[in-house]
Parts: sequence; structure tokens; C-alpha cells
Amino acid sequence: MATDFTEETAAAAVIASLADTPDPRLRELLSGLVKHLHAFARETEPTIAEWEYAIDFLTRTGQKCDDERQEFILLSDVLGISMLVETINNRKHGKATESTVLGPFHVVESPRRELGDSIDFVGTGQPCVVRGRVLTAAGAPGLPGLPGLPVPGAELDVWQANDQGFYDVQQPGMQPRANGRGLFTAGADGAFWFRTIVPSYYPIPTDGPVGDLLNATKRHPYRPAHIHFIVSAPSHRTLTTHIFVAGSQYIESDAVFAVKKSLIADFTLTDDADLAARYGLNGPFFLIDFDFILLS
Ligand SMILES: [Fe+2]
Repeated sequence: MATDFTEETAAAAVIASLADTPDPRLRELLSGLVKHLHAFARETEPTIAEWEYAIDFLTRTGQKCDDERQEFILLSDVLGISMLVETINNRKHGKATESTVLGPFHVVESPRRELGDSIDFVGTGQPCVVRGRVLTAAGAPGLPGLPGLPVPGAELDVWQANDQGFYDVQQPGMQPRANGRGLFTAGADGAFWFRTIVPSYYPIPTDGPVGDLLNATKRHPYRPAHIHFIVSAPSHRTLTTHIFVAGSQYIESDAVFAVKKSLIADFTLTDDADLAARYGLNGPFFLIDFDFILLS
């Protein structure tokens, strides 16, 4: 252990202290963290007051968290780290559907629902039907490179904001519990469909330290309209992603950097009365077709 602490030797001394960490991956992660944190401090030379502010900021970030509020995920999101880690871990593979961030609102278990059920229990938004298939990116036997076989037994965990841009957990007493949430099992042919309403764009919560950060940097807090999905199936990699509403405000400036072009879908207004009747609706509605293609 070094006894002559200097700006130049500090990082090496701390990294050396980690040499006996039994878990090599933990040693690698901690060593990298120390190396870059020290480089950050040497480069920016924070004052004691600034460092104390940083400690207080992180303290307040933790204190803002509870069972239904996750300020650390928000912080990771607005700094682009959530999206970077997600992208590193899910590099684009052929035709597989791209992933995006989990976000901070997957905080309650989605209730199991039947195909065709509605996840909207308020009824003030524009009705819409989401339909598609869950397919495998793997080629058919003997036909490598031909994705498209249905994945039997796929599950789709869905959650979204309402037409005012709020999740159920943000409006207890105003929205029924689990409004905008559902856990669906696709059919044997991979097909799924459910009813909902077109979600609105929304601001991420700004009444905590992350809001202070956005304010101080003159950044807006908005996310373009989207529906969240976690799609899972036996023998396939679980996919965490969104469907973004094409044309939504803020699609070019998502506060958490989560938009990928392949995830933007047209929500098409249809006034086909027969189709509406088939889906248990009356009047015009929006229709979204989106297939999820999973890696095996
Ligand atoms: Fe969201």
C-alpha cells in the first residue's frame, strides 16, 4: 500500500489494493471504475464543495427511491448509460428486434390477461389495437437464415402510460391499479393482440434530483409516446423493448436516448366497422402491427 499519496500514483495504489479480489470480474469492474473516476477527478479538478454536492446529490437520489419510484434508474437513463449498457448487451443480430431501456415504471407485476383483453380501464383515450406475432430469428431446420417461424408459448409483458402521459403508479386513486399493464401469452402460431389506448408522450418525473439535473442543464424531460414490452419465450433471449408511436412529439429528442428507428411503428387510424366489430370496438380506432423477432 502506498504511503506517499500523489495525484499521479493514487489510481495505481487503489487498483493495487484490489489485487487479491477473488472474483476476477469484480476485480476488473472495480479497477476500471477506480481508473476512470480518478481520471475524471484529475481532469475536472472538483472543489471540495463540488464533491460534497455530488455526494449529497447521490444521497438524495437514493433517498428518493421507494417501491414505486426508482430515481437511480432515471439518473442512469438521462445520462445515457442505461441505453449504452442495453445496446452493448444486445448488439443487433440480423433481423432480431432491437432492444431498448427498461425504464423506471416496471415496478409492479403485470396482471395476467387473455388475448384480446383491454389494458385500459379508464376509457378516455383513443382506442387502439396492438397485434403481431412473436417469431424466432433462428433459421428453420435445413434453411438457415430464414427467420420467421412462430415461437410457441411466448409471453408479452406490456406496460404504458395513459393518454395524459401518466403511469398507474403515478396516479393512485385516479387510475385503477394495473391500468395500462398486462401479461399476455401468444398463441401457438405466435400471434397476439390486445386492446388499449394510444399513449401520450410524457415527462419523466422531475420532482427529484434528476429533475434538478435536467433543469440545471436546460434539458427537457420528455419521452416520445411508446408502449413497453418484455417478450420472453423458452430457449430464446428475453427482449426488453418499446414500440414508439410514429410522429410523436419528442421522437427526435427522447430524454433517455432510447429511440431506435426500427422500433417506430405507424399507429394507423381505421374506420373499418367490420374490423372494429371483430375487435369488440365501435367507431374508428388505431391499429398497430408489430412482430417481435427473438434471438434463440
Ligand atoms: Fe415509458
